[in-house]
Amino acid sequence: MIDQSTNFKIYIEGIGKWISFVDRERELKQLINLATRGNPFPIAIYGPEGCGKTTLLKYLTKQLKQHENYIAIYIDALEQQDLAKAIACTHHELWEVVTSLVAITPVGENLAKSITTILRKLHEKISLKGKKVVVVVDDVYKAIGLNNVARYTKMLYEWVNYLHTNFNVSTVLFILTTSEGESKRELYRHTYVHVYMMWNLPKKGLEELAKQLEAPIDIEALWKLTGGNPRAVIDLAIHNWDVDNWTKYIERKVTSTIRDIDPRELKTLVEDPDSNWRIATKLEERGLMMELNRALVIGEEPNPNPELGIGREWAWQLPIYRQVIEKIVSSK
Ligand SMILES: Nc1ncnc2c1ncn2[C@@H]1O[C@H](COP(=O)(O)OP(=O)(O)O)[C@@H](O)[C@H]1O
Ligand SMILES: [Mg+2]
Repeated sequence: MIDQSTNFKIYIEGIGKWISFVDRERELKQLINLATRGNPFPIAIYGPEGCGKTTLLKYLTKQLKQHENYIAIYIDALEQQDLAKAIACTHHELWEVVTSLVAITPVGENLAKSITTILRKLHEKISLKGKKVVVVVDDVYKAIGLNNVARYTKMLYEWVNYLHTNFNVSTVLFILTTSEGESKRELYRHTYVHVYMMWNLPKKGLEELAKQLEAPIDIEALWKLTGGNPRAVIDLAIHNWDVDNWTKYIERKVTSTIRDIDPRELKTLVEDPDSNWRIATKLEERGLMMELNRALVIGEEPNPNPELGIGREWAWQLPIYRQVIEKIVSSK
């Protein structure tokens, strides 16, 4: 059911170029299967910053638009002002409901909080009976705050049942995303949510992306710097593919993030990402490392690879982070 011809173009700000969606066939298939079957629990997708969660979920919404039986809405919980940017949906009735509801800012956060009202009002316009309902709330926890992670997720869990009992829906899938270690850890403590991991693009996807961006850098080199993280690749393109300049920029960012951490402890993690979970947890909170959940994965899990900084249980979100930290600690 994945329609490869779907015209889904992504505008790359800073380069002034439109590109096509690359790779992620497996991820889409998996998400469409989940949407078709429904899931009794909300699913939370956790992955490195810039790995492509938002892009994938917008693409999913667009794919579902072509199928009559699905009603899907994507909400960017972090969008402050622009309603058109904050949502993507399959039905114009959904758009009508949303515009009638949200006049207050920040729009994304308010929409995320109004999801049950949106569905209730939508049901008054078009019956949800027999429909496959998919609701995506992107970056929700950053918008509503760590204190509300459990309450919000549990409310959605309870709404799965509510939608079945009161609206006779066919299936329900709630998808939430986060790049933050703290909210992910909070979710792991609860039984009413399934936490899935998503990783950067595989090498094949990176190649496709690099080709579209006309990268003058050899794929192997690009892979060793970015590990297939599309945002990192785009960032490098914005830096005119000047690897030294981009590395300096990353170095500045990372240096201020790790100032309070003992360089000896960082050194052990540079050598082996699995060697110190206590510091790795700190680095996860700062968006530099990530704990790998190999049990529930959307797409492919990354294989352990010392050169890329990927271990069995922990990984550097981008190989370049490990490289710049190696440089910083060796100069101390
Ligand atoms: N599958 C893809 N094909 C093409 N470009 C992509 C893809 N996934 C991500 N990108 C690009 O990388 C950038 C970062 O992805 P995004 O979806 O915002 O990541 P995340 O939501 O995980 O932080 C996007 O703005 C988009 O330009
Ligand atoms: Mg995102």
